[in-house]
Amino acid sequence: MCGIVGILGTSPATPRILESLKRLEYRGYDSAGIATIEDGKLDRRRAPGKLGALEDALKASALSGNSGIGHTRWATHGEPTEANAHPHMTHRVAIVHNGIIENFRPLKEELLGKGITFEGETDTEVVARLLTSYLDEGMPPRDAFHKTLTRLVGAFALCVLISGEDDLMFGAREGSPLVVGFGEGENYLGSDAMALASLSNRLIYLEEGDWAELTHAKVQVFDPAGNPVERPTTISQVAATMVDKGNHRHFMQKEIFEQPTVVAQALGRYLDPNAGKVRLPQMPFELATVPKVTLVACGTSFYAAQVARYWIEKLARVPAEVDIASEFRYREPVYMHGGLAIFISQSGETADTLAALRHAKAAGQRVAALVNVMGSTMAREADVVLPIHAGAEIGVASTKAFTCQLSVLAAFAIDLAAAKGQIDETQEAAFVEELETTPKLMAQVLHHDEDIAKIARSIAHARDVLFVGRGIHFPIAMEGALKLKEISYIHAEGYAAGELKHGPIALIDENVPVIGIAPEDDLIDKTVSNLQEIMARQGKVILLSDGAEKEAEGMYAHLSMPSAGELVTPILYAIPVQLLAYYAAVEKGTDVDQPRNLAKSVTVE
Ligand code: F6R
Repeated sequence: MCGIVGILGTSPATPRILESLKRLEYRGYDSAGIATIEDGKLDRRRAPGKLGALEDALKASALSGNSGIGHTRWATHGEPTEANAHPHMTHRVAIVHNGIIENFRPLKEELLGKGITFEGETDTEVVARLLTSYLDEGMPPRDAFHKTLTRLVGAFALCVLISGEDDLMFGAREGSPLVVGFGEGENYLGSDAMALASLSNRLIYLEEGDWAELTHAKVQVFDPAGNPVERPTTISQVAATMVDKGNHRHFMQKEIFEQPTVVAQALGRYLDPNAGKVRLPQMPFELATVPKVTLVACGTSFYAAQVARYWIEKLARVPAEVDIASEFRYREPVYMHGGLAIFISQSGETADTLAALRHAKAAGQRVAALVNVMGSTMAREADVVLPIHAGAEIGVASTKAFTCQLSVLAAFAIDLAAAKGQIDETQEAAFVEELETTPKLMAQVLHHDEDIAKIARSIAHARDVLFVGRGIHFPIAMEGALKLKEISYIHAEGYAAGELKHGPIALIDENVPVIGIAPEDDLIDKTVSNLQEIMARQGKVILLSDGAEKEAEGMYAHLSMPSAGELVTPILYAIPVQLLAYYAAVEKGTDVDQPRNLAKSVTVE
């Protein structure tokens, strides 16, 4: 994880690096730091905690120089202390790093054996000391950097300054993304296009194993063997303006309330309501020939995949399997010839999902990436990209990306069903019409904001909360539990309602709120019976439903939801569980947009 940026510039670097780091904070916020070079001398400031702490450190002691590197950290090796914060510096180099150096222990042993001492515990310091040792042996900077790279095993993106070299910066990419940006008499490095958005829109995406040498005048890219290579320049579409919170207290709240708009936007790209048809992007294969769909993702995106499995199997009658990306390739999945593997990721950079994508591609599967960030590694490597059009999602807890993922997956399932001949034109038009109602119904759910806030305040001090649902709403129960635990730090679990009596019901007492997700469908009676079993054991049941009015009478709370079909309900019921988590977190006073220990883009396995 971590975000890195480098500016080889002609005006003071520190404020510009800080601006880039603000855009990169979604990649980690355990500590931050900047190093600059001026008259050949390296200097740095670092601070544990969020970027504000680094800004305070810079106010107390300014950092001059027109060129520099910056880092925002998600800790892997070593606690988030100042000593472990990047940049790591020696008398010769300053380095920022995103990723993990897997062989750092043997390298450290080797360097310790040569009498080289270490200040911190990070794997990155090993890179700094190794490069320094080669420079101290008299190697020219380019050779020393290349030799260092040949010794590293793992995933990394690096940005390096060398003392005495005001017109030089190195970058390298292996497993973690790195982008080169071009300016007027300046050049840049950054983790992604967003990092460089205020600096340049002319970019090169480095490929795996590439490394780059920047001067103010030019950029040279090399392959792992050290041969110069040409990489295409692209024009980034990422807007330079910083997204703000508008009238909302947190990005998460803003993003929850944006959902009717962005879902309408996403559906607008995939549905043709006049023709009553779904329009997917051009595919390099016929959907009708797909024998099986494999869906792979992490976290919230994984729950979107689980919902999609119900739609795909029910509507298209195509077998669908769903995997957590970090487990996928290790179970040696059995691929089917011509199978379609869909990788779902808001960021398009999640390390495990990307590794799974590469695994499926190498096995000859047709590969689609369902992403929010166009230009992300998954989008560039997939055969087909299904953009979700959610707009920048800043809150670490995914909300609008989830409902946009679901909207696009619902459209995909309809199209697959039509391609497979499982539904005729009239049925397709009816499904399109049903899906079209989603934004309006989402807006209705958001009108219950105050009621949900009240319920949230009443559960905010619980130790444990359970979410239960059946069928297509079981993944929404799990998503509700994930949202609650990640931002309010309340222990929460999502269960299939019928599974409770196989163990978890032992947890129930008068202190355990249970959120029941029970739209009026074929399963409502069974779910409500399970909720009655909880009430019989003094559990505090909160029912989210458009039915079961009578049964709701004895329950702790009842949120009345709009009625809709199964293509829409998982999207609608995502909203109250997001708002419950949001208001519980606000009540507890946690850092809603940047919860502890997390990062928005998880680029380590
Ligand atoms: C939870 C959350 C995470 C992400 C997961 C995958 O609110 O945001 O669970 O869903 O880290 O991230 P992407 O979708 O970027 O691959």
